[in-house]
Amino acid sequence: MSAVVDSNIFRNNRLKAGLDPDHIPQHIAVIMDGNGRWAKQQGFMTRVRGHEVGVEALRKITTAAAELGLGFLTVYAFSTENWNRPKAEVDALMNILMTALEKELPTLMNNNVRLKAIGNVDSLPEKANKKLMSVITATSKNDGLTLTLALSYGSQDEMVQAVRKIATEVANGALAPEDISEAHIENSLFTAGMPSPDLMIRTSGEQRISNYLLWQLAYAELYFTPILWPDFDAQGLYDAIAAFQKRERRFGQTSEQLTDK
Ligand code: FPP
Repeated sequence: MSAVVDSNIFRNNRLKAGLDPDHIPQHIAVIMDGNGRWAKQQGFMTRVRGHEVGVEALRKITTAAAELGLGFLTVYAFSTENWNRPKAEVDALMNILMTALEKELPTLMNNNVRLKAIGNVDSLPEKANKKLMSVITATSKNDGLTLTLALSYGSQDEMVQAVRKIATEVANGALAPEDISEAHIENSLFTAGMPSPDLMIRTSGEQRISNYLLWQLAYAELYFTPILWPDFDAQGLYDAIAAFQKRERRFGQTSEQLTDK
């Protein structure tokens, strides 16, 4: 499909969603929270059912984001701290990841979505890591939405790794301390090359960042909704973007400076 046809389709989809078509965030980050509470509320014996339905919610949101012509969607799928959950839940989450990667490849291809991952993916079980790499490779030529899974991810850990990398360059004499810049740090993070998120959505009513993209969210608008992740759908995404469109992003400037431009 040509880029012009594509952009007309995106424009129409944005209008249909009740959004300002010229003011769509380029990058949305999501903390998919509330799977366990959802499972309990629905009377399921295990929290795992919440994660399974959570995958369906992720498919809906990815498809909706691709249809709006969004550039980047980054979701917190498994944190470094999540390894401390009961082994049965960790094992179930890894199986859910494997099954989802296998099952969702056609949806990713149909929607021109490129999959990426950030985090310590080497610490995933070997089979899950292999499957992840195979889907990343299979979708690498897609040039629509980039869907990034944060897996075994923690922002403080990401910063420690970035500092180690930079310190090594300094120790090797390849970099002078006074040449370390914001761009240099950005390029040493897992998210190197990606624009920073404009909007961060957290579901389930919790109002925390939970060690997620601490550097990258510096100027993001934060949106918290009580909806539990398995119930979050395209309309929930449109509502979050509509709220974003009503905010004034000042980046440290005054309101007057922005309106005078
Ligand atoms: C938080 O809910 C959710 C997670 C820790 C996992 C997120 C995973 C998914 C949405 C499924 C998709 C996953 C992959 C791996 C592709 P919670 O369990 O903390 O819920 P609670 O706060 O209600 O207990």
